Amino acid sequence: MKVKKAVFPVAGLGTRFIPATKAMAKEMLPVVDKPIIQYAVEEAFNAGIEQIVFVTGRGKKALEDHFDRSFEIEHALEKKGKTDMLRQIQQLVPRTGTIVYTRQHEPLGLGHAIWCARDIIGDEPFAVLLADDLIQSPKPVLSEMVKKFDRIRASMAAVMEVPDDQTDKYGILDAVEVENDIVRIKDMIEKPSPKEAPSNLAIIGRYILMPKIFEYLGQKQSGAGGEIQLTDAMKSLLEEQPIFGYKFSGKRFDCGDKAGFQMANLAFALERPEIRDRLIGFIKEIQKDF
Ligand code: UTP
Repeated sequence: MKVKKAVFPVAGLGTRFIPATKAMAKEMLPVVDKPIIQYAVEEAFNAGIEQIVFVTGRGKKALEDHFDRSFEIEHALEKKGKTDMLRQIQQLVPRTGTIVYTRQHEPLGLGHAIWCARDIIGDEPFAVLLADDLIQSPKPVLSEMVKKFDRIRASMAAVMEVPDDQTDKYGILDAVEVENDIVRIKDMIEKPSPKEAPSNLAIIGRYILMPKIFEYLGQKQSGAGGEIQLTDAMKSLLEEQPIFGYKFSGKRFDCGDKAGFQMANLAFALERPEIRDRLIGFIKEIQKDF
C-alpha cells in the first residue's frame, strides 16, 4: 500500500496561454530557469515516488527531451570546463525506466487524462500532480501527503481556502475538520458559482488516489465544461470510501493563468540570492509608477 507511482497529466490545451502554448505544453514554460514540470517532478521524487507516468498530448517532444540526456550540451560544457552546469544537467535525467509516457489522444478533461494511465498504475494507490499548481512551501506538499496517507490509508487531496468570488475556478468541498490540518470530505462540486458553493475550501493539484477511482473515471461521464472531471469521479468514490483533504501551508501559484505565472516567477526569483537584490531594486523603482 505504499505510494510508488505518480501520474502527471500534461495533455491540456493550455488555451489561457496561447500563443506560448501553441506548439508546446504549458508545463514546459520556465519559472525563473526551470520548466514548471521540473518543480513537480522533483517534489514527486523527494516524496519517495519511484515511477512517473506522463500523460501527454502536444508538446511531448520538448518534455521527453528535457528529462533525457543531451550529449551535445554535455560535450560543450565539458570542453569549456563548466563542471557545475554539467553536473546540474546530468542530475536532471532520472534513472532509466523511471519515467513512462502515455498519450491522451483527445483532451477530454483531467479525469480522462488520469484514466489513460490506468494500465500502467494497476491496482495500487497513486499520486497525481498538476504541475501548473506550483506550491512554495516549507514542507513539500506531496511528501506530507504521503506521510499522512501511510497513517490514514485513504484517498486525499491538497486543499486551501480561496476567495469567495473565485469558487467557480475550482473543485469546492463540503468538509468537516478532523485534525489540525486534515478535513474529511462530505461532498464536492466542480466549479460552482459562489452562490452554489458549499464553502470556499478548494482542491489544489496534488492527490493520492485509491485505484478504485479508475472504475468511475472509466464511466466517462462529462461534467463541468463538457469535460470528464476528476472531481465527479471522486464524488462517486466518496459513496464507497472516505476521502480526506490536507490543508497544506505555503503559497500556491496557478501557473496556467497569466497573472499567476508572473507571480510565481517573481516569488521564486526572490528566493535566488544571485538575482534577488537586482529584482528588489527594480520593484522599488517601478513601484513609483503604480
Ligand atoms: P486545466 O484546467 O488547466 O486546462 O488543466 P488546460 O487545458 O491545461 O488549460 P486551459 O484552461 O485551456 O488554459 C489542469 C491539468 O489537467 C491537464 C492539464 O495539462 C493540466 O495539467 N489536462 C487537462 C489534461 O492532461 N488533459 C485534458 O484533457 C485536460
